[in-house]
Order: sequence, then C-alpha cells, then structure tokens
Amino acid sequence: MTWKAPIAGGAYPCDNEVAVSASNPVLRNSFLYLSRQGWLRRWTETSPLSKRFTGRFVAGNTLDDGLRVCRELRSQSMSASLDHLGENVAALPEADAARDAYLTALHRIYDDRLGATVSMKLTSLGLDISESACERNTDSLVSKAKETGSRIEMDMESAEYTDRTLRLVHLMHERYASVRAVIQAYLYRSENDIADLCRRGVPVRLCKGAYKEPPNVAFPDKKDVDANYVKLAKMLLDSGADPAFATHDPAILDEVVAYVKQRNIPAARFEFQMLYGVRRDLQKRLAGEGYRVRIYVPYGDAWYPYFMRRLAERPANVLFLVRNLFRT
Ligand code: FDA
Repeated sequence: MTWKAPIAGGAYPCDNEVAVSASNPVLRNSFLYLSRQGWLRRWTETSPLSKRFTGRFVAGNTLDDGLRVCRELRSQSMSASLDHLGENVAALPEADAARDAYLTALHRIYDDRLGATVSMKLTSLGLDISESACERNTDSLVSKAKETGSRIEMDMESAEYTDRTLRLVHLMHERYASVRAVIQAYLYRSENDIADLCRRGVPVRLCKGAYKEPPNVAFPDKKDVDANYVKLAKMLLDSGADPAFATHDPAILDEVVAYVKQRNIPAARFEFQMLYGVRRDLQKRLAGEGYRVRIYVPYGDAWYPYFMRRLAERPANVLFLVRNLFRT
C-alpha cells in the first residue's frame, strides 16, 4: 500500500458540484428542526416528485435497490452496511415489520454472499414504545446476524437514547458478539463510553454526531468536535476492537492515516465508513489505496428524517435538490 498526497490537499475536489462550507449553524438548526416535523414528512414522503431528489442519498425504495448498490460497491472493492430507513415508530406492529424487513435483508445478504452488515436504529424496533419489545426485536436480529456471519451496527440517535442504546449494545455483545456500537464525537461523555467499550472488546463506529444537542451535552463548536474525533480515533486505534471511522472530513482522514502509518497498524485492523452518495471521490481513493471502506446504504420509503439530516450537514445539497426538481 502506498500513501500518496494528503487527502486534505486541493487535488481531490468535493464530490458535490457546489463547494459551500457545511458549518452554517442557522441552516443546520433549521434543517434539523424540519427533520422532526411530522406533517412535512408525510407530505414529502408520499410526493410523486420525491424520487427526483432522494436518489443521491438513498439507494431506492426496495431491498432489491439496496442489494443492487451492495453489488456495485463490491465490484469497486468496497463493502456495505444496509439501512432499512425508519425511526421513532409509534406502534409495535410497525416495529415488528421493521424487524422482519431487517431479517429478510440479513437472509438476502447471506444468500447473495455480499459480506454486508446491517445498520439499524433502536427506535425503529420500538424503543419509544416498549424497551422489552425492542430488546426482543434486537435479539432476533443480532442472533440472525451471528448465524449468517454478519453484524448489526446499532446507529446512535439523539442523546436521550444513548444510555438505553449502550445498555442493549452491551447485552447483545455478551450474548452474540455480532454488534458494533456507534459513538458520537460531539458528546462530552464519549471518551468514557469509548474507554468502556474498548475494555469490553465491543467494536465501535466513530462519527461526529448528526442531531441537535444542547451545549451542556455536546460541544457546540465544530472545531472542538473535530479535535475530540481525532482524540477518540487514536484511542480506538490503540485499544479498540475492529473500529470504523465514519467521516468524510479530509483533514481527519489524513490524521487517521498518518497515525496508522506512524504506528504500523495493519489496514485489516480498522475500516473507514462513508455515506452512500457522499464524497465518492474519497471512497474510491481510500479503497484504491488498500484500505477497507464500507458504505452506509439506506433504502426504503421512510427517507425524510435521514434526508433532512444530510441537508443539515451540507446545505449546499439543497441546490442539487432544486436543480433535480426542475430537471425535465
Ligand atoms: P463534516 O460534516 O465536517 O463534513 C466534512 C466534509 O464531508 C464536508 O466538507 C463535505 O465535503 C462532506 N460532507 C459531509 N456531509 C455531507 C453531506 N450530507 N452531503 C455532502 N457532503 C457532505 N450520526 C449519528 O448521529 N449517528 C449515527 O449512527 C451515524 N452513523 C453514521 C454512519 C456513517 C457511515 C457516516 C459516514 C456517518 C454517520 N453519522 C451518524 C453522521 C455523522 O454523525 C455526521 O453527521 C456526518 O458524517 C457528517 O460529518 P463528517 O464527519 O462527514 O464531517
């Protein structure tokens, strides 16, 4: 494996056509506010125009769409984590349906030998309604993941869910070991959580964090979040089990790669993760250099909150949306 120019250098343009800074707090907060508005969600998810603007970030409405993308990624030496879109379900039959959709996905991943994992949110399995029902649903998914040689990556939602999510992560790790926790670098508590997860040998996906959190819970300044990300990434490289670095931030990717090279850490001991449709240039570049790259591939009808969080991260994406809407 040969390391070329730093990723942060200007030679690798943003995969978006419009280069606008992602860190506009007013726009970010506005999109995060809109992401929680049920009326707008119902209206947009059923709109006949929706396909025109979701295509960039969502594989499609069906599992077959997600599996097609998994195959495309494999042909480019990348793997996938399939996410059946959905969160905060309001009734247990919806949670059971989400569980069944994930079970079907695990079967298809196994049958088609795709080597993909599954990413899911506990609120899609009923966490808001009944913790015990959610635990039962999670147990059936993680046991199936173990049986089929896959893994459940438990997405981390807003801070009100962190304790409950980590409790289930630990329980499932003790029972089956086929889970990965997600830790958000913007939370003050994350350093302690990572130390605990490392002690227990639980694999971790490290991300910056995508929700609106108050300043007593999360670093309000992006530069502090970024600095904490690098600190936590080094902790994971030193003592984590199969860590995954989920970010498109070129400066952070440079720091991780430099640390790995400095410590002679083999590429097989960690992976990079990125979102479907975001910074495809970096995805291909890292895979081409021999690093493991896994792409988070969402599919399904319930795309609205996921999509709005992507706009919050990068308001320039709105220009794509508008352009696609008026394209004939
Ligand atoms: P940052 O936001 O600083 O962006 C760095 C650069 O990446 C930007 O300058 C731009 O080039 C590009 N970029 C970032 N977001 C973009 C977008 N939406 N569209 C276009 N370009 C974009 N969060 C969470 O709270 N819980 C979770 O479980 C997960 N899971 C998860 C899995 C994976 C695989 C990834 C990559 C991310 C998550 N996230 C997440 C989301 C994460 O917390 C964060 O909001 C986004 O990854 C954006 O942060 P970056 O690290 O990319 O940096």
